[in-house]
Amino acid sequence: MIKRTHTCGELNKSNIGHEIHLNGWISKSRDLGGLIFIDLRDRYGKTQIVFNEENHINAFNTAKKLGLEDVIGIKGVVVARPEDAINKDIATGEIDVEVNEISVYNESEPTPFDINDRNSAMEDHRLRYRYLELRTEDLQKNFVLRHKVTQAVREYMSDDDFIEVETPILMKSTPEGARDFLVPSRIHQGRFYALPQSPQTYKQLLMVSGFDRYFQICKCFRDEDFRADRQPEFTQIDIEMSFVDQNDIMSMATGLVRNIWKKAIGVELPSEFPVITYHDAMERFGSDKPDLRFGLELNEFSDYIDKSDFNTFKDIIKSGGKVKAIVCPNANNYSRKVIDELTDYLKTYFGAKGLAWMKYVDSTLDGGISRFFPDQVKNSIISDLDVQDNSIIFIVGDNKNTVYSSLGALRLKLADNENLIDNSHWSPLWVTDFPLVEWNEEKSRWDSLHHPFTSPDLNDIDLFDTDPSKINSLGYDIVMNGYELGGGSIRIHDRHLQSKVFNLLGIDEKEAEEKFGFLLGAFKYGAPPHGGLAFGLDRIVMLLAGCNQIRDVIAFPKTTSAMSLMDNSPSPVYSDQLDELGLQIKSKKK
Ligand code: AMO
Repeated sequence: MIKRTHTCGELNKSNIGHEIHLNGWISKSRDLGGLIFIDLRDRYGKTQIVFNEENHINAFNTAKKLGLEDVIGIKGVVVARPEDAINKDIATGEIDVEVNEISVYNESEPTPFDINDRNSAMEDHRLRYRYLELRTEDLQKNFVLRHKVTQAVREYMSDDDFIEVETPILMKSTPEGARDFLVPSRIHQGRFYALPQSPQTYKQLLMVSGFDRYFQICKCFRDEDFRADRQPEFTQIDIEMSFVDQNDIMSMATGLVRNIWKKAIGVELPSEFPVITYHDAMERFGSDKPDLRFGLELNEFSDYIDKSDFNTFKDIIKSGGKVKAIVCPNANNYSRKVIDELTDYLKTYFGAKGLAWMKYVDSTLDGGISRFFPDQVKNSIISDLDVQDNSIIFIVGDNKNTVYSSLGALRLKLADNENLIDNSHWSPLWVTDFPLVEWNEEKSRWDSLHHPFTSPDLNDIDLFDTDPSKINSLGYDIVMNGYELGGGSIRIHDRHLQSKVFNLLGIDEKEAEEKFGFLLGAFKYGAPPHGGLAFGLDRIVMLLAGCNQIRDVIAFPKTTSAMSLMDNSPSPVYSDQLDELGLQIKSKKK
């Protein structure tokens, strides 16, 4: 084998005259008669190598038979490129390598898509040959970036006295709100492990064990519906600390995020991130993960409805609903047809009953539902909401959650339509003061907003018996450019308080003992006050890489229907494997 002395990304003018060896893949080839030019590629870059029939006939004859993506090793001499062939855009653009010896390691069949042009194939096709897609420059860059991020995490955490501890993959299920992936036990037939939705219980147990600063870069598994920013199998940066309060955790995590952004992409984030309560986030942006790179805030609109003749919205307010509005520039972009499309979008995806509007053009508030408002009220709207000429006001009246979700989504859509988002800007923030629980209408019970180990604000304990919806938790989320990067909380470390919360969630003592007995048991033996959080590593890398889907930063991802197209999993298993596990497939779902 010809072992490389250099990579394909590093030779330059200073190497001229040197005898060097390179290894790599053939990325491009041009046959000019007596000369063959080849771009040799490895993960560091590309180098142009030249085969000359006159000087090295053997190497030349071998090169004549080479095809794209063949893997070769060469020996050669670095030479200066002619002036008119210099390419200043690439590191190796000032030199060529004149080849005197070649060894062919592996010939490639024609690849199923062009490695130089990732977009030449549909995603399903590329996923089937993911190992080839990973050769593309885009994906190579993403994984170098991902590595920089994990390095930045390990460096920052270790320097701050955290130690990395691995926790089990085969475990008892932890409630994180999603469905578990189950693993049947052969030795204990009829019993199952669950894959961790997160190492939540283990990291709390590690605090009881005295590892007061823990972190782990770990795989988590959730059997839920997938979106552009979710995978069934994803990676968390999981953190837990003892003897700390919420501010300690938030400031440590702010420092970690700043270190990641600095080390991975050289961006200096502000030393403190804005903090906004859940209530304000919902009222102002209709979302608990607001994108603060642009305005278009939601405005309260109920007062104007009270003074109008628009009975539909009046009735909504009377029955406990809300009316809120967004003022959007460039009213002329919003024809009836465009407004109808927006209305359909909100109806279909967010359950809105409709989308009301009026336009402020040539100093007149007109169209849509404007006729229901007396002039005086119109004037107040214009001045209170600072409505500029050529604006359109979109108004939604509905129950609180529908108003938030539909106007929150409309806000994003309008920002996109109007090009209001500066893609070079980073906008981190913390969201705090989440409600501890939310009412699950379908199941008639209170559900945790984070998870059942989240501590309530101890000032709100009386509300357990009077109005649980008003109990605040000591939970917090960190958000960047409209994505939830991570979340966590101060935990309950007292058995009695934990029982009280289980009680509220409708988990009776027997169930609590069965599901979390080990954790409650540990709390008997000196549990320190503790708290922590977990970041979605894939989401962080996705944002840093400027991708809009998480698959681009996961080496071997699943499709949105949870398939791995490359190895075709999940796949059927042999009946003797099922027999060993004592399992039988009831019937196959169509
Ligand atoms: P949580 O469930 O909020 O908290 O998860 C933490 C972060 O993990 C990322 N994330 C995901 N990323 C990709 N695909 C998914 N399916 C997915 N689900 C979650 C998100 C999210 O913010 N144990 C708690 C943390 C704690 O309390 O310490 C937990 O797992 O970025």
